[in-house]
Amino acid sequence: MTKMLDTQDLAAMIKAGMAHAKAHTIEKAPSVLKLPAARYFDPAIFAAELDRIFKRVPLLLAVTAELPKPGDFKSMVAVGVPVLLARGQDGVVRAFINSCSHRGTSVTTELAGNARRFVCPYHGWTFTQKGELMGIASADDFGEIDKSCYGLTPLPVTERGGMIWGIVDPKARLSFDAFLSGYDALLAHFGFENWHLFSSRVIPGPNWKIAYDGYLDFYHLPVLHKNTFGEDMFNQALYYAWGPHQRVQAPSPELLDFENRPEDEWTVESMMTGVWTIFPHVSIASFQGGGRSVMISQLLPGPTVDQSFTTQLYLMEKAPNAVEAAEAEAQFKFLEHVVRDEDYATGLRQQEALKNGGREHVLFGQNEGGAQLFHQWVDRLIATDDADLEQLFADQVRWLPGQDSNLRPGG
Ligand SMILES: [Fe+2]
Repeated sequence: MTKMLDTQDLAAMIKAGMAHAKAHTIEKAPSVLKLPAARYFDPAIFAAELDRIFKRVPLLLAVTAELPKPGDFKSMVAVGVPVLLARGQDGVVRAFINSCSHRGTSVTTELAGNARRFVCPYHGWTFTQKGELMGIASADDFGEIDKSCYGLTPLPVTERGGMIWGIVDPKARLSFDAFLSGYDALLAHFGFENWHLFSSRVIPGPNWKIAYDGYLDFYHLPVLHKNTFGEDMFNQALYYAWGPHQRVQAPSPELLDFENRPEDEWTVESMMTGVWTIFPHVSIASFQGGGRSVMISQLLPGPTVDQSFTTQLYLMEKAPNAVEAAEAEAQFKFLEHVVRDEDYATGLRQQEALKNGGREHVLFGQNEGGAQLFHQWVDRLIATDDADLEQLFADQVRWLPGQDSNLRPGG
């Protein structure tokens, strides 16, 4: 039986969006934020972000559609940590550090595949899908060890609504529930567990925060993207937050279409449009045409402050027919051009100018509350010690239409 999801929050956002669309207003942040420019190029700040954010909070490591069947696995490097995700014959996804307990090299070098067991390419030690050490090559020659102590190192992991989050530190203690702040229930409305992975690619980009700012920003759409898709786009946005996670919705006149139908006929699909971001590194943009689809952008910091890598995953609600596949392919190609040649090309120039131009701070307007909230969360996490981390998230409430709370940018 499928669980009925609560659509009340979705409807509340539509109603708030309609009111703003009629009045041509947004909810403004209380003040203009000045952010020190060094946040974008200082290697010490970058190192703190890796340790205090990326190694302590759950990251969206994969979507279910990448490893849907028993035995499917994915390997990746996230913030320098080699990670192996493996779905057991029992259907459960587990995460491990991809490092053999014998001498430490990665037990698989394949990025994806299907396997009953993992055979280390160095000396042939074998591990089960559950990470247990199964076999030691030439065990009699090797000598006695307690095999039960030498499995792969497990990482905290959870699979919810077709998305897989994990923490890349085996000693991490932050709970998924506190971190997700109820936002996973909203994302579950997509129903990604049944979607189809159409295509994926990786795009190099600038500093991860320069890149991420852009995903929360509609202000730039009709300017930077005027020659591609932005000419008639709205430059206003409404931001709704669940802990650090934010949904971005344009108060565009299209929302007024909802007025023509009674509320109980509003479809979940029609209420899920726009951009959904997952702190600290993911954006989900939804599209129509060629079948319902989304592009999930999973951003990971690179080895240095001025590099990032974005995996773009193009998911479709249904496996496409030939015509839909051609449309989706064209759309995905177009999005590569937009992100690489417009957003990230601008970001690369931005970081060079900030690093070498002597500017002390950059500005986020009252209309850029989403990015303000994002940078506040970056600061909060860097300032919060391990012992207080769970409470930091537990203390946050949702910021929904018309509500005032401590989540409000500048609050
Ligand atoms: Fe953009």
